[in-house]
Amino acid sequence: MIFILLGPPGVGKGTQARLLAERFGVESVATGDMIRAEVSNDTELGREARSFMDAGDLVPDDVILRMVGARMQNGKGGGFLLDGFPRTLAQAEGLDRILSKIGKPLNGVVSLRVPEENVVERLGNRRVCPVCSRVYNLTSQPPRTPGRCDDHPDAELILRTDDAPDTVRHRFSVYNAQTRPLVDWYRSRGLLREINGTGSVDDVLGRVEAALRSS
Ligand code: AP5
Repeated sequence: MIFILLGPPGVGKGTQARLLAERFGVESVATGDMIRAEVSNDTELGREARSFMDAGDLVPDDVILRMVGARMQNGKGGGFLLDGFPRTLAQAEGLDRILSKIGKPLNGVVSLRVPEENVVERLGNRRVCPVCSRVYNLTSQPPRTPGRCDDHPDAELILRTDDAPDTVRHRFSVYNAQTRPLVDWYRSRGLLREINGTGSVDDVLGRVEAALRSS
């Protein structure tokens, strides 16, 4: 099974992807996490991507498509949950080419919706484990020990550099200009499920799971 999680910054894609990948036995492919790993390993790709990411701009399509193509061609066969990919029409067309190469169809696209003011608050309170990328929230999903990852207690949780308020606003405008058109594109292909992303993490998980099981 192959699904896409679509939605603006901070809507809960990463939080849901981690839970859904486990429930559906698929691999989560999170392009943001993949790029952050390249940056922290100081690879050539990481150096190329860093300035785009820090500014809240999209990393060029060809870089993303090379990275995702290689990842999906080396999958374990159980399917993928794509978190934060595709984000442009060129990436969506590139995904179609990757899928035809690996001989798998796209089963569904979930678009999460949350009012912008809730999302800005969520991102201000987000903290992330630098080792496993697990996402916390100081108010709604705090770690067991303040400032420490539950799974990696030696790791101090960090605030992402692109979660500064001005960068968050810019990421929203980038989403509206470059990614939102994909909502209509997938709707016109009969693949889109629009889901209310407000409420508890479990509430949202239940809605998304029901939508995916009926896809
Ligand atoms: P990426 O890392 O993908 O960031 P994003 O899409 O902006 O999304 P976020 O990770 O900010 O939010 P999320 O929706 O995953 O929310 P989360 O679950 O963390 O991309 C970062 C950058 O990488 C991009 O700007 C770009 O530069 C580059 N990039 C990545 N992919 C690319 C691509 N395909 N093409 C080009 N460039 C690309 O939740 C947010 C907070 O809310 C957390 O604190 C969480 O605990 C909390 N929360 C979650 N659910 C709930 C809930 N139900 N109630 C209350 N709080 C909740």
